[in-house]
Amino acid sequence: MLTLGVNIDHVATIRQARQTVEPDPIAAAILAELGGADGITVHLREDRRHIQERDVRLLRETVRSHLNLEIAPTENMIAFALNVKPNYVTLVPEKREEVTTEGGLDLVKDLQRFTEVVEKLQGAGIPVSWFIDAVPAQIAAAAETGAQFIELHTGKYANAVSETTRQEELALLIEGCEQAIAAGLRVNAGHGLTYQNVYPVASILGIEELNIGHTIVSRAVLVGMERAVRDMKLAMHGYNLS
Ligand code: PXP
Repeated sequence: MLTLGVNIDHVATIRQARQTVEPDPIAAAILAELGGADGITVHLREDRRHIQERDVRLLRETVRSHLNLEIAPTENMIAFALNVKPNYVTLVPEKREEVTTEGGLDLVKDLQRFTEVVEKLQGAGIPVSWFIDAVPAQIAAAAETGAQFIELHTGKYANAVSETTRQEELALLIEGCEQAIAAGLRVNAGHGLTYQNVYPVASILGIEELNIGHTIVSRAVLVGMERAVRDMKLAMHGYNLS
């Protein structure tokens, strides 16, 4: 059955905007699980712009579903993952200047090093997922590294400006998923998925989990706004809402 990994990075983005303690991503993870999240995903970025090491450590203790830690395949991040031991690790490319992850990793370029990364993590009992584009050479390389999973990058599908391009990108995801499964990989997908565009991707046979963040946090802000304002009016009248 297709499962949902909820990415809660942007709860931490709001907290970091004020360098304060709210909203706490740990609370968001618990509520996401109450809502049916099958997994919680966080990206610990090199610049710590949203998720902090403290968050990952606490989530490791509190998440009841599974914790998927997204990191760049650098020595420091791998050491951190080996220490925290999330349920699995998704390895992503990372550039400091980007607003969000801009594409899949190029595994072909450095296959030897990436194979060693998989050996280190999976050797310690942490399954690895490579975040890659649905490109045959990348999928073949992912299988060669020995990783258990890939996460197909759905950003190009999500950002397609015409229906024709969107269908072409969807076809690439379908073919990529088939190729990956034939090569023995398990397949997740994510990036840029929304309430409007998720269904065709969710219908691809063989995909096990979708990782979705921005659109869920966006909706949470909006569906929670009315209640939050009502609560403040009550607080202003002396009600204790702590
Ligand atoms: N998958 C990966 C590898 C990501 O880096 C992200 C964004 O952090 C997502 C999924 C979720 O993307 P979005 O926030 O657009 O739903």
